[in-house]
Amino acid sequence: MSSTAPVLEIKGLNVNYGLGEKAVRAVRDINLTLHRGEVLGLAGESGSGKSTLAYGVTRLLPPPGVITGGEVRYHPREGASIDILSLESEQLRAFRWSEISLVFQGAMNSLNPVHTVRSQLTDVIRAHRPEMSKSQRVERAASLLSLVGISADRLSSFPHQLSGGMRQRVMIAMALALDPEIVILDEPTTALDVVMQRQILKQLTRLRNELDFSVVFITHDISLLIEFSDRIAIMYGGRIVEEAKAKEIYHTAHHPYSHGLLHSFPALHGPRRELTGIPGSPPDLTAMPSGCAFHPRCPKVFEACDQKVPVLGPIRGDAGRTVACWLHAEH
Ligand SMILES: Nc1ncnc2c1ncn2[C@@H]1O[C@H](COP(=O)(O)OP(=O)(O)OP(=O)(O)O)[C@@H](O)[C@H]1O
Ligand SMILES: [Mg+2]
Repeated sequence: MSSTAPVLEIKGLNVNYGLGEKAVRAVRDINLTLHRGEVLGLAGESGSGKSTLAYGVTRLLPPPGVITGGEVRYHPREGASIDILSLESEQLRAFRWSEISLVFQGAMNSLNPVHTVRSQLTDVIRAHRPEMSKSQRVERAASLLSLVGISADRLSSFPHQLSGGMRQRVMIAMALALDPEIVILDEPTTALDVVMQRQILKQLTRLRNELDFSVVFITHDISLLIEFSDRIAIMYGGRIVEEAKAKEIYHTAHHPYSHGLLHSFPALHGPRRELTGIPGSPPDLTAMPSGCAFHPRCPKVFEACDQKVPVLGPIRGDAGRTVACWLHAEH
Protein backbone atom coordinates (compact mmCIF):
# COMPACT_ATOMS: atom_id res chain seq x y z
CA MET A 1 0.00 0.00 0.00
CA SER A 2 1.74 3.17 -1.06
CA SER A 3 0.59 6.74 -1.10
CA THR A 4 2.12 9.19 -3.49
CA ALA A 5 3.71 11.48 -0.89
CA PRO A 6 7.50 11.17 -0.95
CA VAL A 7 9.22 10.44 2.35
CA LEU A 8 12.76 10.35 0.96
CA GLU A 9 14.10 11.94 -2.21
CA ILE A 10 17.57 11.11 -3.42
CA LYS A 11 18.79 13.58 -6.01
CA GLY A 12 21.98 13.32 -8.02
CA LEU A 13 23.75 11.31 -5.33
CA ASN A 14 27.39 10.41 -5.95
CA VAL A 15 29.56 8.35 -3.63
CA ASN A 16 33.24 7.56 -4.09
CA TYR A 17 35.70 5.39 -2.23
CA GLY A 18 38.97 7.27 -1.97
CA LEU A 19 40.00 10.61 -3.36
CA GLY A 20 41.56 11.96 -6.51
CA GLU A 21 42.24 9.99 -9.64
CA LYS A 22 42.20 6.63 -7.92
CA ALA A 23 38.71 7.18 -6.48
CA VAL A 24 36.22 4.38 -7.12
CA ARG A 25 32.89 5.82 -8.21
CA ALA A 26 30.60 3.33 -6.50
CA VAL A 27 27.32 5.32 -6.71
CA ARG A 28 26.72 7.59 -9.69
CA ASP A 29 24.05 10.24 -10.23
CA ILE A 30 21.33 8.37 -8.40
CA ASN A 31 17.83 9.84 -8.44
CA LEU A 32 15.34 7.83 -6.45
CA THR A 33 12.18 8.55 -4.48
CA LEU A 34 10.74 6.49 -1.64
CA HIS A 35 7.05 7.06 -0.99
CA ARG A 36 5.32 6.90 2.36
CA GLY A 37 4.26 3.36 3.26
CA GLU A 38 6.01 1.82 0.29
CA VAL A 39 8.41 -1.12 0.07
CA LEU A 40 11.09 -0.19 -2.46
CA GLY A 41 13.28 -3.07 -3.60
CA LEU A 42 16.86 -2.52 -4.72
CA ALA A 43 18.45 -5.19 -6.87
CA GLY A 44 21.68 -5.68 -8.77
CA GLU A 45 24.68 -7.96 -8.88
CA SER A 46 27.36 -7.93 -6.21
CA GLY A 47 29.35 -4.70 -6.36
CA SER A 48 26.64 -2.67 -8.10
CA GLY A 49 26.55 -0.15 -5.24
CA LYS A 50 23.44 -1.15 -3.28
CA SER A 51 25.04 -1.06 0.17
CA THR A 52 27.02 2.06 -0.70
CA LEU A 53 23.76 3.79 -1.58
CA ALA A 54 22.20 2.68 1.74
CA TYR A 55 25.24 3.84 3.73
CA GLY A 56 25.40 7.12 1.83
CA VAL A 57 21.74 7.90 2.47
CA THR A 58 22.09 7.21 6.20
CA ARG A 59 25.52 8.91 6.41
CA LEU A 60 27.05 5.69 7.72
CA LEU A 61 29.66 5.34 4.99
CA PRO A 62 32.83 3.73 6.29
CA PRO A 63 36.09 5.42 5.25
CA PRO A 64 37.36 5.93 2.59
CA GLY A 65 33.76 6.45 1.41
CA VAL A 66 32.86 10.07 0.59
CA ILE A 67 29.69 11.64 -0.70
CA THR A 68 30.85 13.84 -3.55
CA GLY A 69 27.55 15.34 -4.57
CA GLY A 70 23.80 15.30 -4.42
CA GLU A 71 21.00 15.72 -1.97
CA VAL A 72 19.03 13.35 0.23
CA ARG A 73 15.84 15.06 1.29
CA TYR A 74 13.72 13.65 4.12
CA HIS A 75 10.11 14.75 4.41
CA PRO A 76 8.77 14.45 7.96
CA ARG A 77 5.03 14.06 8.50
CA GLU A 78 4.96 17.61 9.78
CA GLY A 79 7.24 20.53 9.16
CA ALA A 80 9.86 21.39 6.58
CA SER A 81 11.94 18.82 4.73
CA ILE A 82 15.52 18.14 5.81
CA ASP A 83 18.62 17.56 3.70
CA ILE A 84 20.23 14.60 5.48
CA LEU A 85 23.58 15.35 3.85
CA SER A 86 23.80 18.72 5.55
CA LEU A 87 22.95 17.56 9.09
CA GLU A 88 25.60 18.13 11.76
CA SER A 89 26.76 15.00 13.57
CA GLU A 90 24.71 15.79 16.69
CA GLN A 91 21.52 16.25 14.65
CA LEU A 92 22.38 13.13 12.73
CA ARG A 93 22.58 11.01 15.88
CA ALA A 94 19.08 12.09 16.89
CA PHE A 95 17.84 11.52 13.38
CA ARG A 96 19.18 8.02 12.86
CA TRP A 97 17.14 5.24 14.49
CA SER A 98 14.26 7.58 15.27
CA GLU A 99 13.52 8.71 11.68
CA ILE A 100 15.52 6.29 9.57
CA SER A 101 17.13 3.03 10.61
CA LEU A 102 19.35 0.59 8.81
CA VAL A 103 19.71 -3.16 9.28
CA PHE A 104 23.20 -3.88 7.96
CA GLN A 105 24.18 -6.67 5.65
CA GLY A 106 25.12 -9.55 7.96
CA ALA A 107 23.63 -7.69 10.92
CA MET A 108 22.58 -10.85 12.73
CA ASN A 109 26.23 -11.36 13.59
CA SER A 110 26.60 -7.87 14.94
CA LEU A 111 24.63 -8.43 18.15
CA ASN A 112 26.93 -8.12 21.12
CA PRO A 113 27.61 -11.71 22.30
CA VAL A 114 28.09 -10.76 25.97
CA HIS A 115 24.83 -8.84 26.39
CA THR A 116 21.30 -10.15 26.61
CA VAL A 117 18.66 -9.25 24.06
CA ARG A 118 17.02 -7.16 26.78
CA SER A 119 20.04 -4.98 27.41
CA GLN A 120 20.74 -4.46 23.69
CA LEU A 121 17.17 -3.38 22.98
CA THR A 122 16.85 -1.20 26.06
CA ASP A 123 20.23 0.48 25.33
CA VAL A 124 18.92 1.79 22.02
CA ILE A 125 15.74 3.00 23.68
CA ARG A 126 17.58 4.63 26.59
CA ALA A 127 19.96 6.52 24.29
CA HIS A 128 17.08 8.17 22.44
CA ARG A 129 14.27 8.23 24.99
CA PRO A 130 15.97 9.19 28.26
CA GLU A 131 12.60 10.19 29.71
CA MET A 132 11.42 6.58 29.80
CA SER A 133 11.73 4.65 33.05
CA LYS A 134 13.57 1.35 33.24
CA SER A 135 10.36 -0.65 33.45
CA GLN A 136 8.90 1.24 30.49
CA ARG A 137 12.01 0.41 28.48
CA VAL A 138 11.79 -3.28 29.31
CA GLU A 139 8.10 -3.26 28.48
CA ARG A 140 8.88 -1.63 25.15
CA ALA A 141 11.63 -4.20 24.48
CA ALA A 142 9.18 -7.04 25.15
CA SER A 143 6.55 -5.58 22.85
CA LEU A 144 9.17 -5.11 20.11
CA LEU A 145 10.10 -8.77 20.35
CA SER A 146 6.51 -9.86 20.09
CA LEU A 147 6.10 -7.54 17.08
CA VAL A 148 8.64 -9.68 15.25
CA GLY A 149 7.15 -12.92 16.51
CA ILE A 150 9.53 -13.75 19.36
CA SER A 151 8.21 -14.49 22.83
CA ALA A 152 9.11 -11.99 25.55
CA ASP A 153 10.87 -14.62 27.67
CA ARG A 154 13.67 -14.46 25.09
CA LEU A 155 14.61 -11.07 26.51
CA SER A 156 17.03 -12.75 28.88
CA SER A 157 18.67 -14.81 26.12
CA PHE A 158 22.16 -14.16 24.85
CA PRO A 159 22.61 -14.01 21.06
CA HIS A 160 24.21 -17.48 20.86
CA GLN A 161 21.09 -18.97 22.43
CA LEU A 162 18.98 -17.79 19.50
CA SER A 163 18.63 -19.24 16.02
CA GLY A 164 19.87 -17.23 13.05
CA GLY A 165 16.32 -16.27 12.14
CA MET A 166 15.63 -15.09 15.68
CA ARG A 167 18.82 -13.01 15.75
CA GLN A 168 17.83 -11.43 12.48
CA ARG A 169 14.40 -10.64 13.87
CA VAL A 170 16.00 -9.09 16.98
CA MET A 171 17.95 -6.81 14.64
CA ILE A 172 14.73 -5.86 12.87
CA ALA A 173 13.06 -5.25 16.26
CA MET A 174 15.98 -2.97 17.14
CA ALA A 175 15.57 -1.08 13.89
CA LEU A 176 11.90 -0.56 14.74
CA ALA A 177 12.58 0.39 18.37
CA LEU A 178 12.02 4.12 17.94
CA ASP A 179 9.16 3.95 15.42
CA PRO A 180 11.22 5.19 12.47
CA GLU A 181 9.54 6.42 9.30
CA ILE A 182 12.03 4.57 7.11
CA VAL A 183 13.68 1.19 7.60
CA ILE A 184 16.46 0.15 5.25
CA LEU A 185 17.17 -3.57 5.18
CA ASP A 186 20.38 -4.56 3.46
CA GLU A 187 20.31 -8.29 2.62
CA PRO A 188 18.44 -8.95 5.84
CA THR A 189 17.77 -12.59 5.20
CA THR A 190 20.44 -14.05 2.90
CA ALA A 191 21.96 -16.24 5.60
CA LEU A 192 18.60 -17.85 6.32
CA ASP A 193 16.67 -20.61 4.65
CA VAL A 194 13.93 -19.73 2.19
CA VAL A 195 11.04 -20.52 4.55
CA MET A 196 12.51 -18.34 7.28
CA GLN A 197 13.25 -15.53 4.82
CA ARG A 198 9.66 -15.42 3.66
CA GLN A 199 8.34 -15.64 7.22
CA ILE A 200 10.43 -12.64 8.30
CA LEU A 201 9.46 -10.59 5.27
CA LYS A 202 5.79 -11.44 5.77
CA GLN A 203 6.03 -10.20 9.32
CA LEU A 204 7.76 -7.07 8.18
CA THR A 205 5.21 -6.21 5.53
CA ARG A 206 2.42 -6.84 8.03
CA LEU A 207 4.13 -4.47 10.45
CA ARG A 208 4.56 -1.94 7.69
CA ASN A 209 0.79 -1.97 7.20
CA GLU A 210 0.18 -1.61 10.95
CA LEU A 211 2.82 0.99 11.75
CA ASP A 212 2.91 2.77 8.38
CA PHE A 213 6.64 3.03 7.82
CA SER A 214 8.47 2.80 4.50
CA VAL A 215 11.01 0.16 3.62
CA VAL A 216 14.02 0.00 1.34
CA PHE A 217 14.73 -3.67 0.84
CA ILE A 218 18.03 -4.79 -0.69
CA THR A 219 18.55 -8.37 -1.76
CA HIS A 220 20.09 -10.66 -4.35
CA ASP A 221 16.95 -12.73 -4.30
CA ILE A 222 14.82 -11.37 -7.11
CA SER A 223 11.86 -13.64 -6.40
CA LEU A 224 11.64 -12.34 -2.82
CA LEU A 225 12.01 -8.82 -4.09
CA ILE A 226 9.16 -9.18 -6.54
CA GLU A 227 6.96 -10.81 -3.96
CA PHE A 228 7.47 -8.22 -1.22
CA SER A 229 8.24 -4.92 -2.97
CA ASP A 230 5.81 -2.41 -4.37
CA ARG A 231 8.46 -0.91 -6.63
CA ILE A 232 11.87 -2.07 -7.76
CA ALA A 233 15.00 -0.19 -8.81
CA ILE A 234 17.73 -2.13 -10.60
CA MET A 235 21.36 -1.03 -10.20
CA TYR A 236 24.28 -1.68 -12.51
CA GLY A 237 27.78 -0.26 -12.09
CA GLY A 238 26.63 2.30 -9.52
CA ARG A 239 23.68 3.61 -11.51
CA ILE A 240 19.97 2.86 -11.56
CA VAL A 241 19.20 1.39 -14.94
CA GLU A 242 15.49 0.72 -14.53
CA GLU A 243 12.74 1.45 -12.07
CA ALA A 244 9.17 0.18 -12.09
CA LYS A 245 6.35 -1.32 -10.11
CA ALA A 246 7.35 -4.85 -9.07
CA LYS A 247 4.57 -6.49 -11.07
CA GLU A 248 5.35 -4.45 -14.16
CA ILE A 249 9.04 -5.21 -14.19
CA TYR A 250 8.38 -8.89 -13.61
CA HIS A 251 6.05 -8.88 -16.55
CA THR A 252 8.15 -6.71 -18.84
CA ALA A 253 11.73 -5.75 -18.06
CA HIS A 254 12.81 -3.09 -20.54
CA HIS A 255 16.52 -2.99 -19.77
CA PRO A 256 18.37 -6.05 -21.07
CA TYR A 257 20.23 -6.18 -17.74
CA SER A 258 16.97 -6.23 -15.74
CA HIS A 259 15.73 -8.90 -18.07
CA GLY A 260 18.85 -10.98 -17.46
CA LEU A 261 18.64 -10.48 -13.71
CA LEU A 262 14.99 -11.47 -13.60
CA HIS A 263 15.79 -14.58 -15.55
CA SER A 264 18.72 -15.57 -13.35
CA PHE A 265 16.49 -16.83 -10.57
CA PRO A 266 13.70 -19.37 -10.45
CA ALA A 267 10.35 -17.72 -9.67
CA LEU A 268 8.72 -18.80 -6.44
CA HIS A 269 5.24 -18.68 -7.88
CA GLY A 270 3.75 -18.62 -11.33
CA PRO A 271 4.82 -20.37 -14.48
CA ARG A 272 8.34 -21.72 -14.84
CA ARG A 273 10.73 -19.47 -16.70
CA GLU A 274 13.75 -20.45 -18.65
CA LEU A 275 16.83 -19.39 -16.71
CA THR A 276 19.14 -17.58 -19.05
CA GLY A 277 21.30 -15.62 -16.60
CA ILE A 278 23.75 -12.95 -17.67
CA PRO A 279 27.00 -13.86 -19.39
CA GLY A 280 30.19 -12.11 -18.31
CA SER A 281 30.90 -10.36 -15.02
CA PRO A 282 30.09 -6.99 -13.41
CA PRO A 283 32.18 -4.03 -14.59
CA ASP A 284 35.43 -2.94 -12.99
CA LEU A 285 34.47 0.39 -11.42
CA THR A 286 37.98 1.72 -11.95
CA ALA A 287 37.85 1.02 -15.69
CA MET A 288 34.24 1.43 -16.73
CA PRO A 289 33.27 0.65 -20.32
CA SER A 290 32.42 3.74 -22.36
CA GLY A 291 28.78 4.64 -22.92
CA CYS A 292 26.37 2.24 -21.28
CA ALA A 293 28.38 0.23 -18.74
CA PHE A 294 26.40 -2.89 -19.61
CA HIS A 295 27.12 -2.80 -23.33
CA PRO A 296 29.96 -5.38 -23.35
CA ARG A 297 27.58 -7.96 -21.86
CA CYS A 298 24.40 -6.87 -23.56
CA PRO A 299 22.71 -9.25 -25.99
CA LYS A 300 21.02 -6.27 -27.68
CA VAL A 301 24.04 -4.01 -28.06
CA PHE A 302 24.11 -1.67 -31.10
CA GLU A 303 26.12 1.33 -32.38
CA ALA A 304 24.80 3.94 -29.91
CA CYS A 305 25.61 1.93 -26.82
CA ASP A 306 29.34 2.61 -26.37
CA GLN A 307 29.05 6.30 -27.27
CA LYS A 308 27.27 7.99 -24.39
CA VAL A 309 25.89 7.05 -21.00
CA PRO A 310 22.10 6.66 -21.28
CA VAL A 311 20.21 8.54 -18.55
CA LEU A 312 17.26 7.14 -16.67
CA GLY A 313 14.23 8.52 -18.47
CA PRO A 314 10.77 7.83 -19.85
CA ILE A 315 10.22 4.96 -22.24
CA ARG A 316 8.86 5.31 -25.71
CA GLY A 317 5.47 3.58 -25.79
CA ASP A 318 5.26 2.66 -22.09
CA ALA A 319 4.03 5.67 -20.15
CA GLY A 320 5.13 5.97 -16.55
CA ARG A 321 8.06 3.58 -16.89
CA THR A 322 11.71 4.67 -16.76
CA VAL A 323 14.84 3.02 -18.07
CA ALA A 324 18.41 4.01 -18.92
CA CYS A 325 18.91 2.23 -22.23
CA TRP A 326 19.49 3.45 -25.80
CA LEU A 327 17.02 0.86 -27.09
CA HIS A 328 14.22 2.77 -25.41
CA ALA A 329 15.47 6.35 -25.50
CA GLU A 330 13.00 8.99 -26.61
CA HIS A 331 15.12 9.87 -29.64
N1 LIG B 1 35.99 0.45 1.39
C1 LIG B 1 35.98 0.37 0.06
N2 LIG B 1 37.03 0.80 -0.67
C2 LIG B 1 37.03 0.74 -2.01
N3 LIG B 1 36.01 0.27 -2.74
C3 LIG B 1 34.95 -0.17 -2.07
C4 LIG B 1 34.85 -0.15 -0.64
N4 LIG B 1 33.67 -0.66 -0.28
C5 LIG B 1 33.03 -0.99 -1.42
N5 LIG B 1 33.80 -0.68 -2.49
C6 LIG B 1 33.45 -0.89 -3.91
O1 LIG B 1 32.24 -0.24 -4.19
C7 LIG B 1 31.44 -1.03 -5.05
C8 LIG B 1 30.05 -1.15 -4.52
O2 LIG B 1 30.08 -1.92 -3.34
P1 LIG B 1 28.76 -2.23 -2.54
O3 LIG B 1 29.17 -2.92 -1.29
O4 LIG B 1 27.96 -1.00 -2.41
O5 LIG B 1 28.01 -3.23 -3.52
P2 LIG B 1 26.70 -4.10 -3.29
O6 LIG B 1 25.82 -3.87 -4.46
O7 LIG B 1 26.15 -3.83 -1.95
O8 LIG B 1 27.27 -5.58 -3.39
P3 LIG B 1 26.80 -6.91 -2.60
O9 LIG B 1 25.59 -7.38 -3.34
O10 LIG B 1 27.96 -7.84 -2.75
O11 LIG B 1 26.52 -6.56 -1.19
C9 LIG B 1 32.16 -2.35 -5.23
O12 LIG B 1 32.79 -2.37 -6.47
C10 LIG B 1 33.18 -2.36 -4.13
O13 LIG B 1 34.35 -3.02 -4.56
MG1 LIG C 1 25.87 -4.96 -0.28
